[in-house]
Amino acid sequence: MNTESRNRGWIGSAFRALALGSALGSAALGATPAAVSYTRDVAPLLRLNCNGCHRPGKEKGGVDLTSVGTMLKGGKHGPAVVPGDPKTGTLLGEVSGPDAAMPKEGDRLQDAGVALLERWIREGARDDTPPEVDLGPTRYAAPPVIPSMAFSPDGRFLAVAAVREVVLLDATNLSRIARWPGSATRPESLAFSPEGKRLAVAGGTPGVSGIVQVWEVDSGKRSGQWRLANDSLLGVSWSPDGTRLACGGSDKIARVISAADGHEETRFAQHSDWVMGAVFLRDGRRMVTGGRDRALKLVTVPEGRLVDGVNREIEPVVAMARHPLEDWVAFGGPEARVRMYKAEAKPDNNDPGRDPNFIREFEHFDGGTTALAFSADGKQMAIAGLPAGEVRVHAVADARRTATLKGHGGAVFALAFAPDGNRLATAGFEGMIRVFGLPKGQLLTNAVPVPVDFVHAAFANPVPTPP
Ligand code: HEC
Repeated sequence: MNTESRNRGWIGSAFRALALGSALGSAALGATPAAVSYTRDVAPLLRLNCNGCHRPGKEKGGVDLTSVGTMLKGGKHGPAVVPGDPKTGTLLGEVSGPDAAMPKEGDRLQDAGVALLERWIREGARDDTPPEVDLGPTRYAAPPVIPSMAFSPDGRFLAVAAVREVVLLDATNLSRIARWPGSATRPESLAFSPEGKRLAVAGGTPGVSGIVQVWEVDSGKRSGQWRLANDSLLGVSWSPDGTRLACGGSDKIARVISAADGHEETRFAQHSDWVMGAVFLRDGRRMVTGGRDRALKLVTVPEGRLVDGVNREIEPVVAMARHPLEDWVAFGGPEARVRMYKAEAKPDNNDPGRDPNFIREFEHFDGGTTALAFSADGKQMAIAGLPAGEVRVHAVADARRTATLKGHGGAVFALAFAPDGNRLATAGFEGMIRVFGLPKGQLLTNAVPVPVDFVHAAFANPVPTPP
């Protein structure tokens, strides 16, 4: 048989098996059911129904149900799972029967789900989690998309989010000082602490994990890494006193955690779409969250109580930033102009057509906003948008355009003013950092922040050998 027909035959039978499997259920095929897999069967079930309340940083009843190890350890009333003995652990009792206690909120597990858990425990509660592979420093076949970057407050460093790592550059000449590789994380957002000694990174693996890390800038050591969610975390910021971190997430939740131990202090779940970011106000007792659901919301910290919506809800929040000296928040989205708001509650009798907290709007890009940033003195705002090409700098006081920075070949996702406001760094799709002088807007330096030296075997030998 030649390769082509063999391939077709294989695809054909796989397809038939799939169709049969879904029409009749795999039991009808007469095969002995395979052992229940923790990774394939149990973990997804718990992730969907239980881990919202039982995970690191939020262990209701003292139990973390995100790993086999923590289930064996259990909670207040002993182990959740005892291998081989479904009756003894606390887990099964909580989910069984018509008046199951767990999940505490929402629908109870279907009988098939309970049976699956029971069988997994009876079969020995085996942990088949694949070992975490240390992939080493990322090797790049092309410059990576850069979603975020920041200057340290003393102006010495430029920290850049790349793939599974943060790269620390010398802010004057963009030479590489350090690479901080970190687990399977795609950093989405990073921010220096107010005193400049720590760098917070939020990110994760879409649909799998949401992680916040804290790095010590001088030693390059990671002082914390916390898995807080099952989807990427976005838009991280520090409380003014440097003790807490706030972030948004693609799980529609805004969180505030302790920057020392990752303990979740606030969880705000009143957005109906991704929360793109969360910023503290000056008193550290309130934050503003911005969502793709078009809302900026004013929320108390640590209580997590909604005070009010801040804006008239015109378009999704894509990029947002707080004015460094005022409780003002600016945001841009796919359609309208960048708009700046006072972060206050609206009057009780507010007419929904009015927008009482609105301060000012800025020139818009036809295809929408992709990034925005304030200078440290709050006098300048940089905006990037689509179509890509230029980045614009405006005076915050009257929205007048003061500089136009040209030469970008793709969307810009990251903007960072140097602390003195005399330079602006831009980066994004192209993986190229450009530093411009202000107010003139002349290009000063540019560099790709990582070594690009790797040609994948698939590209070296573009015709794969058939099996
Ligand atoms: C909305 C929050 C929430 C969800 C979702 C939830 N739990 Fe709980 N769970 C709690 C709380 C709160 C407690 C503490 C006891 C109580 O208040 O009933 C608890 C206690 C437990 C305990 C007892 C721990 C101990 O040692 O006392 C187990 C086991 C448990 N949950 C399992 C589950 C399982 C399995 C699921 C998913 C099917 C689940 N929970 C979903 C909130 C939740």
